[in-house]
Amino acid sequence: MRFLMLAILALAPCARAADNTEKKISELIGKMTLEEKLGQLQQLDGSAEGDVPQDYYALAEKGLLGSTLNVRGVKRVNELQRAAMRSRLHIPLIFGFDVIHGYRTIFPVPLGEAASFDTDNAREAASIAADEAYAAGVRWTFAPMVDIARDPRWGRIVEGSGEDTYLGSQMARARVLGFQGTDYSAPGKIAACAKHWAGYGAAEGGRDYNTTNISERNLDEYYFPPFKAAVDAGVATFMSAFNDLNGIPCTGNEWLIRGVLKSSWSFEGFVVSDYNAVKELVNHGLAADEADAARLGITAGVDMEMVSRLYNNHAPELLKKGLITEAQIDEAVRRILRVKFRAGLFENPYAEQKLEDSEILTSEHTMAAKFAAEKSFVLLKNDGGTLPVRDGVKHILLAGALADDQEAVTGSWNGDVRTRDSITIRKGLGEAAKDAGAELTYVRGAGPAASDTDNITEAVEAARNSDMVIAVVGEQQTMSGEASSRADISLPGRQLELVKALVSTGKPVAVLLMTGRPVIINWLAEHAPAVMEIWYPGTMAGRAVADVVFGKVSPGGKLPVTWPLSEGQIPLYYNHKNTGRPFEADNKYTSKYLDITNAPQYPFGYGLSYSTFTISDMKLSADRISKKGNLTVTVNVRNTGDVKADEVAQLYIHKHSGSVTRPVRELKGFKRVTLDPGEMQTVQFTLGPNELGFYGKDLKFAVEPGDFDVWVGTSSEGGNESSFTVLP
Ligand code: GLC
Repeated sequence: MRFLMLAILALAPCARAADNTEKKISELIGKMTLEEKLGQLQQLDGSAEGDVPQDYYALAEKGLLGSTLNVRGVKRVNELQRAAMRSRLHIPLIFGFDVIHGYRTIFPVPLGEAASFDTDNAREAASIAADEAYAAGVRWTFAPMVDIARDPRWGRIVEGSGEDTYLGSQMARARVLGFQGTDYSAPGKIAACAKHWAGYGAAEGGRDYNTTNISERNLDEYYFPPFKAAVDAGVATFMSAFNDLNGIPCTGNEWLIRGVLKSSWSFEGFVVSDYNAVKELVNHGLAADEADAARLGITAGVDMEMVSRLYNNHAPELLKKGLITEAQIDEAVRRILRVKFRAGLFENPYAEQKLEDSEILTSEHTMAAKFAAEKSFVLLKNDGGTLPVRDGVKHILLAGALADDQEAVTGSWNGDVRTRDSITIRKGLGEAAKDAGAELTYVRGAGPAASDTDNITEAVEAARNSDMVIAVVGEQQTMSGEASSRADISLPGRQLELVKALVSTGKPVAVLLMTGRPVIINWLAEHAPAVMEIWYPGTMAGRAVADVVFGKVSPGGKLPVTWPLSEGQIPLYYNHKNTGRPFEADNKYTSKYLDITNAPQYPFGYGLSYSTFTISDMKLSADRISKKGNLTVTVNVRNTGDVKADEVAQLYIHKHSGSVTRPVRELKGFKRVTLDPGEMQTVQFTLGPNELGFYGKDLKFAVEPGDFDVWVGTSSEGGNESSFTVLP
């Protein structure tokens, strides 16, 4: 009882503050005209460079604008904010921007960050991004993107954490806490936004903005949990998605927004539509016209309209006709004002000119970005220890247009990047080679876009005069991200031809893949001695690549997505169901293709190292537990190689049977450890109702009794195996 009293006393101030805020909001709403209320529901777009269109000042001064996107820079932000603060009720604007993987210091793209399997790393990257964005007057980011994606043809797979729900949920939580901390009114913290609600990553055919059909079970099981993790981490806002979800586009989907998010999950923040998504309800054919689209958005619970102005244009008439209610408008206003209060905007509406724009990129931030990039790299193949560069190597050929491309290294959604800040791979490797007493020659050879400057012959001649070759190939960053789906996900241009020619010289060739997705690399995976996925590593690409390629750091990343052998296999993901006729190589009548195996090029969770590791001595705290019980699983991870390196111990479970079928494996724990040669660390995982439960036949989350397999290994294949039972 005493504890309870202490807890109530401790929480009392927060409860009082919340009540006080709600009272202030009620007072404000009581004073607002309908026009002023609709103004709060409106977000308008600044220029890509961050400028403010002239007419926004008048709107702000009349209290008819709630937010902007893309407006940034202390001077611009404060000038527009001063206009808003001159309005009758002095309601501040909230300035939003896509701070996806960095503001000025650009970190690895989110898919690369997920490959680190290191949530501390992800949280720090988001925290630094928030710090820089805050310094530029941004108080709200449209991140983290938490869409589960099982289709690498979809360009936006680069923006999330890949195919797995558990990894995606852990990363969602880390990123929200990185951006917001526990109080996003604090200096250096900004409101976050979980997007795109929901199921956007399941676009049919991998075509961006395309239709999605996802059973409620699969929404509950795979697509919703990362969003729920964001809510549980206190995310301030959500963004409604573009896609048609089971016939009702998300931005007009009342079940999705008012039902699941606001009612079942008790979400207190606000929902902003995606760009023009309210207006696009007409294209979808859900809305008969723009007035109807406004009605549908408001009725569904989309609180703020991004860019299109249908709420402002049509809500007064809709109210008169009784097609929407003032209570709906007031609720949307309340949610928006609540976030503005929690962001501290009423007390502190202006950005401080703490740093000159040129000072935002600090050495601490770039050092963190380098470490993050190193952790994101996934070593896919390394025959004969091709990497790291050996002492005897004196002449290195670096080939590939992407090796010398300052734009590409920061990927899509690269914040307020200044390209000149980026360290190219050519620059980084050149300096490292010199320090190592080696000579680096660069020849473009070929790039993602076929060009008349392609010169494979020149690259081959240079290779013949070298001791080893490093080839950087992949996708131009414009081939990845929004509106960048690809039906053919092989290496574009003549890059494969370049690699084949370089390998044919007989010199050791290390291929570095700079991509925003798994790409089809059958020949390359078979014939190139070393292959490493480096994603888009960010501002410090060259430094991170140099430290890994020259062996200062061992790569330790793992694939957050299954890597297919062919587009024909897609969707291909590790946590698939067994089917009634699971694959048998020598049985035609099983789930398989006539012309290709079911196996991926590389499985989810896979990644090599410069060292070797064993995972052994698996122990379970019990071999049977109750439905409410917990079970700990421990293993010993040992570095059996001769260099310091990281390993990611991954725990997977499989329930033999249930009221609904269960995936053949499900990730339910991971831990990245750094070990010196010979060092051993005991890693412990806990399995309880949160990990063992699932949505049963009745779509209710529960633990069902039965037998489980459990593995701990270094990928989603193999590993130490054991089993346990959950008792009835
Ligand atoms: C875009 C994206 C969304 C982004 C928004 C604002 O279309 O879908 O992720 O946050 O518009 O730029």
